[in-house]
Amino acid sequence: MIFKNKLIKLYYLIPILLCAGVIFIFGWQYFQQTQQPLIAPSESKENIVIHEPIQPIPLQLELNESKVKLGKKLFHEPRLSVDNKISCASCHNLKTGGTDRLVHSIGIQKQLGFVNSPTVFNSGFNFKQFWNGRAETLEAQADHSILSGNAMGVKSWLEVVSKFKQFSEYDSWFRQLYTDGVTSDNIKDAIATFERSLYTPNSRFDQFLRGVQNALTEEEKEGYGRFKSYGCVSCHQGMLLGGNMFQTFGLLGDYFGDHGRVTKYDLGRFNITGDEHDRYVFKVPSLRNVVLTSPYFHNGSAATLEEAIKVMAKYQLGRQLPQTDIDLIIKFLRTLTGEYQGKPL
Ligand code: HEC
Ligand code: HEC
Repeated sequence: MIFKNKLIKLYYLIPILLCAGVIFIFGWQYFQQTQQPLIAPSESKENIVIHEPIQPIPLQLELNESKVKLGKKLFHEPRLSVDNKISCASCHNLKTGGTDRLVHSIGIQKQLGFVNSPTVFNSGFNFKQFWNGRAETLEAQADHSILSGNAMGVKSWLEVVSKFKQFSEYDSWFRQLYTDGVTSDNIKDAIATFERSLYTPNSRFDQFLRGVQNALTEEEKEGYGRFKSYGCVSCHQGMLLGGNMFQTFGLLGDYFGDHGRVTKYDLGRFNITGDEHDRYVFKVPSLRNVVLTSPYFHNGSAATLEEAIKVMAKYQLGRQLPQTDIDLIIKFLRTLTGEYQGKPL
């Protein structure tokens, strides 16, 4: 009898013990999960991209290398211009940050351009081309440059195409890469493909964005902090710190009134759309490699970064910055110089 009683009690105990076991196992697993770090070990430190308003430039892009080579040759080819003297590189020198470092570029027959030449480095990431965004693509942009009266001065594509068909080296090169040989579209395609290869990854700032904390000094990090807290980043953002939106130059102050001497080009996007809202509107320029591309602004009116930052603070943010903060922002901007083909620009 006593034995039988004990057996019954044991029958009750088994489910209770089982339940306790299950609760214990699940509880333990939950505890383990909560203890795990948020970052999986495989993607820790070096390669995570911190959530920031600016993204790093890709380290590698897939491009047709043969077209890049042909495009490079064309980019440096003065025979693309009507007087055989001016190449794209005349105004976009890759050794000087992809610009000519002049207030206004000099085109055929020593004609002065109307605006400062922007860099061609990273131009493949721009949402539109030109200060006023009048070209949607790099291909369309090349069209404008070659046919522009004061840059390369060619009257029609027919002129260029028949000229280049006569250069046997180019003729056979084009035939190798394109079934239809030398055509305007193929010239533009090769040049644009080369321009897309002009990306400059791995700046110290990009290393920082990829999680390498000591890629920047404390002061440079503070400079980045100021760049964000003052609101520069509201316009200079994304992969290029610019190149992805239009904004009014003189949003919070009469820049052009104070500057005086307003030219037609100063009307910005208004010249394209005729819309009053587009008066003085320009593409926000990229700040990548910006220490190399003085003078600044579409009119080349700021000789130094310090001057440019003061103008930005006054007319885009409606305030004056203390000198210490300007210096910190310049220190940050200096960290944006990247590498081209593995070498610092
Ligand atoms: C005479 C000087 C000159 C020559 C030659 C020249 N450019 Fe330019 N380039 C400029 C200027 C100035 C601008 C800005 C014009 C504007 O925004 O209205 C510019 C703008 C550009 C842009 C737009 C960049 C941006 O951020 O918006 C690209 C890309 C470019 N040029 C590539 C080329 C190519 C390719 C060639 C040769 C086919 C060429 N350029 C020939 C002076 C020149
Ligand atoms: C409201 C938008 C806006 C804000 C805010 C702004 N910018 Fe700009 N930035 C622009 C535009 C638009 C231009 C082009 C002006 C022009 O030349 O037509 C520009 C041009 C520049 C240039 C010249 C680049 C070149 O290649 O010519 C620098 C440098 C610059 N900004 C830095 C800054 C800094 C630093 C701040 C913060 C203190 C700042 N910007 C705030 C819109 C802005």
